[in-house]
Amino acid sequence: MALFDEDLEAAGWPEVARRFHDHIRQADAVLIATPEYNYSVSGALKNAIDWASRDGNAWSGKRVALMGVSSGPIGTARAQLALRQIMVAVDALVIPQPQVSLGPASLVFGPDGSLADEASARRLVTLVEAVLAR
Ligand SMILES: Cc1cc2nc3c(=O)[nH]c(=O)nc-3n(C[C@H](O)[C@H](O)[C@H](O)COP(=O)(O)O)c2cc1C
Repeated sequence: MALFDEDLEAAGWPEVARRFHDHIRQADAVLIATPEYNYSVSGALKNAIDWASRDGNAWSGKRVALMGVSSGPIGTARAQLALRQIMVAVDALVIPQPQVSLGPASLVFGPDGSLADEASARRLVTLVEAVLAR
């Protein structure tokens, strides 16, 4: 997705940014699975959030659940704190608990890529139930 800037926005939205905005606006709830880049979210995720916050702010009042997976043992816990702060700024309703921080990825996922760690899988189910119950 093109990097957001107001000149580009004024010239006409890129198709992919418009489509992303529409998806967020129409969603009943959103689950964001983030990586951790230098203790925070990736620039790509922040950029997508910024696009969707424009032209009517698709995030406003939206139920949002956070999760993440990283190659290290912290499992994006630091990135999720940063993401939580960003989502406050865009007026989203972030589900407070449970925290789903998966890592190291090599241990929690099986060879076929499925979530193999049962405790992690249970927390993920609880998170989805929590966001749908709001
Ligand atoms: C620029 C960069 C910074 C990273 N910083 C962290 C970090 O702070 N903590 C962590 O656990 N992993 C960190 N990683 C490792 C990522 O968790 C790992 O590369 C992961 O696979 C990234 O997911 P993605 O491929 O979906 O972007 C970093 C990776 C990159 C490329």
